[in-house]
Formats: sequence, structure tokens, C-alpha cells
Amino acid sequence: MRVVLLGAPGAGKGTQCQGLVDRYKMLHLSSGDILRKERASGTQLGKKAQHYMDSGELVPDDVIIEMMAKAIRKAPAAGFILDGFPRTVNQAAALDKALDANSQKIDAVLNLQIDDRVVAGRMTGRRSCPKCGAVYHIENLKPKDDGLCDRDSTKLVQRSDDSPEVVANRLETYHRQTEPLVDYYMNNGTVFNFDADRDPNEVKASISEKLDALAVT
Ligand code: AP5
Repeated sequence: MRVVLLGAPGAGKGTQCQGLVDRYKMLHLSSGDILRKERASGTQLGKKAQHYMDSGELVPDDVIIEMMAKAIRKAPAAGFILDGFPRTVNQAAALDKALDANSQKIDAVLNLQIDDRVVAGRMTGRRSCPKCGAVYHIENLKPKDDGLCDRDSTKLVQRSDDSPEVVANRLETYHRQTEPLVDYYMNNGTVFNFDADRDPNEVKASISEKLDALAVT
């Protein structure tokens, strides 16, 4: 299955992917995580992305499209779940074109819906693992050992773009440049909306119900 996960910053895309990849054995491809790894390794790509990420703007389409095309080529037969990509209509069109060249298509677009006001609290409390990308929250989703990743015991960190000013700009960028993607995908009938302002397990159950139904059709 090939799945796109849409949603504002803090909607819970990364959180939901953690459960979905275990269940469906799809490759989790997060454009944000890939960019953060490039930055941590000090690559040219990472350096190019730094300024955009720190201000809450989108990294230019050509950079992202090339980076994600390379990642998608490594996906297993079970498919992939895209988190944070595509983020512009240009990126979505490039993705469709690349898949079409291999007689493939996106099977489902999962749209996590959340009010901007809920996002602020989620972002200030978020902690993530710099090694494996696992996501926690200081109140809603605590790790077993305070400040350490459950999977690899790495010290959890706060993302540099989670300050209130940058989050405000990321939300504005999302509404202006990414939200139009819902209409883009609506045209081919693959969009499924989910209320993301619920317990993460409830959100996961709704998504799984939908993906299970798609898997048997
Ligand atoms: P990226 O890393 O993709 O960030 P984002 O889309 O802003 O999304 P987040 O990772 O912040 O949120 P999320 O929805 O994954 O929420 P999470 O599960 O962590 O992008 C960062 C930057 O990279 C961009 O600004 C841009 O510069 C660049 N970039 C990336 N992709 C790009 C692209 N395609 N094109 C151009 N530029 C690109 O959850 C958030 C918190 O809430 C956590 O603490 C979690 O524990 C908690 N939480 C989750 N679900 C729930 C729930 N149901 N109830 C309560 N708490 C919850």
C-alpha cells in the first residue's frame, strides 16, 4: 500500500506512523526526519535546508523532490507511508508522475484534522529521539524512563523549530501551501479525514479500520 499522511504541524503524523508501520510493514518516510538527519551530518543538503526549517518556511521543491524520489526508490513491496511529503501541489504532481512511470499510484491519503489552538500545547511539550525519530510528549505520551527514548535509551531533545514564533509561521505556511493538497487529492477520491483531536490510540484505530478495508478490496 502507498499512503500519504497529511495534516498541520503537530496533528500527530509522526506519532501515528509509529503504530502504522508496525502493523502494515510499510516504510515510514518522513521528509522532516530525513532533513534533520542531513543537518546533523552536516551535508550540503542539510546546510541548504537549515535556514528554511529554522524559520518555518518550506525547503524549495526541487531539493525536496529529488531527496524524496531517492528515498521512495528504496521502499519494499509492502509500500510506504509518506509523512510531511508532499507539501505543495508541485511536489504532489512530481510524486504522481514518478509513481505513474512505474505503473504505481497513491492508494490512500489520510488527512489528520486539528484546530490550530490545539497544536501550540502539543509542540511545546514534544520531545523526540534524535537517533530513531520516536516522538513523545511530556504530559500526553511520556517515555517509560524520564527523558530517554523507549527504543534505544537515547536522550530525548526538543526540536529547535518548536518555539511559539516558528510554530505560528509553520501553521501559516501549512494553511497557505499544504492545505490546497486536500483538494488536489480529493479529485481522485483517495482522501479520508480523521479527527486528530482524540486519544492517539483512538485515532490509530480509526485509521487502521480504513486501511484494513482498503487492503482487502
Ligand atoms: P516536519 O518535521 O515534517 O514537521 P511538521 O509537518 O511541521 O510536523 P511535525 O513533525 O511538527 O508534527 P507531527 O504532525 O508529526 O506531530 P507529532 O506526531 O510529532 O517538517 C519540519 C520542517 O522541515 C518544515 O517546517 C520544513 O521547513 C521542512 N520540510 C519537511 N518536509 C518538507 C517538504 N515536503 N517540503 C518542504 N519543506 C519540508 O506530534 C506532536 C506532539 O503532539 C508530540 O509531542 C506528540 O506526542 C503529541 N501528540 C500526537 N498525537 C497526539 C494526540 N492524539 N493527542 C495528544 N497529543 C498528541
